[in-house]
Amino acid sequence: MPPFRLVKASNDAYSPSYAPVVVVFGGTSGIGRAMTKRLAELLQGRVHIVVVGRNKPEADKLFATLPTPTSFGPSSAQPKSEPECTREFIYCDLYHMSNIHRICTEILSRFPKINYLVLTAGVASFGARCETDEGIDKLFALRFYWKFAAINDLLPGLRVARDRGEAASVFVCLGMGNGPKIDFGDLGAKTKYWKGVRPIWQGLSYGDLALALFAERDPEIAFTHMFPGMVRTEANSPQAVSNPILKFIIWLLLPLMWLLFIPVDVSAENMIYGLLNGEKGFFQRNTVGDSVGPRNVNYSEREKERFWEHCMQTTRSVPK
Ligand SMILES: NC(=O)c1ccc[n+]([C@@H]2O[C@H](COP(=O)([O-])OP(=O)(O)OC[C@H]3O[C@@H](n4cnc5c(N)ncnc54)[C@H](OP(=O)(O)O)[C@@H]3O)[C@@H](O)[C@H]2O)c1
Repeated sequence: MPPFRLVKASNDAYSPSYAPVVVVFGGTSGIGRAMTKRLAELLQGRVHIVVVGRNKPEADKLFATLPTPTSFGPSSAQPKSEPECTREFIYCDLYHMSNIHRICTEILSRFPKINYLVLTAGVASFGARCETDEGIDKLFALRFYWKFAAINDLLPGLRVARDRGEAASVFVCLGMGNGPKIDFGDLGAKTKYWKGVRPIWQGLSYGDLALALFAERDPEIAFTHMFPGMVRTEANSPQAVSNPILKFIIWLLLPLMWLLFIPVDVSAENMIYGLLNGEKGFFQRNTVGDSVGPRNVNYSEREKERFWEHCMQTTRSVPK
């Protein structure tokens, strides 16, 4: 585990010769927002940012805090011909795969090259199984399936970056091989749901295996699954829950949570380290960015094929 000052120094040293294109699903809050801000700061604004989510006002607030390349001093190495760096918000409710396919087509038409695809959107909630009109459990859709659809759809953009010799990296903030074995007898948690525990728990492992399989298919691209630990974000605030009893308990625990949980800026620094380190292949990283894998992705070829087909069909994706 590198000391935090080395993590920060490593991030600070990142200085590509081009302005990277970064697409962030979840940049309107918490870890995704903090990562976007930090990335823009260390690149001194010289980065194209596309934030996907539902909350435009929050995205606009974020964009207003980011440095612009024109804020460089006269000694800046910024070439005069550099086109203006994009700050763009794209609305998408991730419960529906059709939404994802639509906006990914839009993203690729405007940004044919993608250097970093950062996927932090998600909530961990519990309750009864509830299917969308596409037949996917809502909780599972938000835990895992949208990520599969978005990665698959945006692969052409990442391949363009890779073919240019630039960074091409997919980063998912959630797990690191710490889930259970995948239950191939109940893919999609259709029979055993346990009030949402199964999609939450199995979703970690689905993410691991999906990223490992994407890495097998596109070995020149980096696919990282990183576990954030417990981080001080909106997700852990009383506002995040509707149940009044739970809300009250969170209020009571707030001082303790604030003491024990990782500050979001520290988490974002570690996450950026995980994003920038690892040129190609499959990575599973712990809270501080150590590579700990491969873990929990050891399945038979038949199981892998079955899982891939399940994901393709469930998300109504086509191979890209
Ligand atoms: N914070 C922790 O302690 C912790 C611990 C373990 C795992 N995690 C996981 O890490 C990830 C990031 O957590 P966080 O703390 O940064 O969460 P957060 O602050 O609550 O942010 C969640 C993000 O997900 C987006 N989102 C939620 N539902 C959406 C939907 N239906 N469509 C589109 N976007 C949606 C939100 O965007 P909108 O603006 O559209 O609402 C928001 O940007 C999550 O997957 C979380 O489960 C967090």
